[in-house]
Amino acid sequence: MSVHLRPLVAGEQPHPATADSEFDDFGPRVHPDPPPSRIDEDGSVGIVENGAVVGTVGWHWVQWGPSAGSRCPMIGISLVAAARGRGIGSEAQRQVVDLLFRATASNRVEAHTDVTNIAEQRALEKAGFTREGLVRGAQWRNGAYHDGYLYSILRNEWEQA
Ligand SMILES: CC(C)(COP(=O)(O)OP(=O)(O)OC[C@H]1O[C@@H](n2cnc3c(N)ncnc32)[C@H](O)[C@@H]1OP(=O)(O)O)[C@@H](O)C(=O)NCCC(=O)NCCS
Repeated sequence: MSVHLRPLVAGEQPHPATADSEFDDFGPRVHPDPPPSRIDEDGSVGIVENGAVVGTVGWHWVQWGPSAGSRCPMIGISLVAAARGRGIGSEAQRQVVDLLFRATASNRVEAHTDVTNIAEQRALEKAGFTREGLVRGAQWRNGAYHDGYLYSILRNEWEQA
């Protein structure tokens, strides 16, 4: 498997669309074109396998306190159906963790996934994340609130891996 991450250019997106999963149905996106990604702002990059864009992995910044040191990125991923179940999700999340720890001073990278999304829970654990606990009613998706699990990997864990 040869997988790498790269910025998407305007208009470029995974083909076919990735929003066919119950875990990725957030309704219409306001901006169909991905904005240019700056690491210290919310952003996303394409996941490329053998030259084809097979998904995206992105991050948005969350704040656990008023200081800059209390800020950390939370990642989210989506693969086209044909690319799932072959290890790409685990590898792409490992690579985006590398990117975020190398390019920012953040002490922590987070992820959150539905309590029923076993594939993503497993992929996160394979990418080095630890499950921290249940987050109740946090995500509005498919017309309802859903419970999820919060995951994280800390800088010292990434350095030691
Ligand atoms: C979730 C997702 C990113 C995982 O990526 P992936 O490439 O399919 O997962 P991997 O191939 O790396 O597999 C990770 C592990 O999950 C397991 N797994 C995969 N699909 C599974 C399923 N449906 N049920 C149980 N386990 C599953 C794999 O067996 C593997 O574990 P193993 O190596 O111990 O066998 C991908 O499936 C996807 O994009 N799904 C739709 C959108 C989505 O759910 N996004 C995440 C929202 S938080």
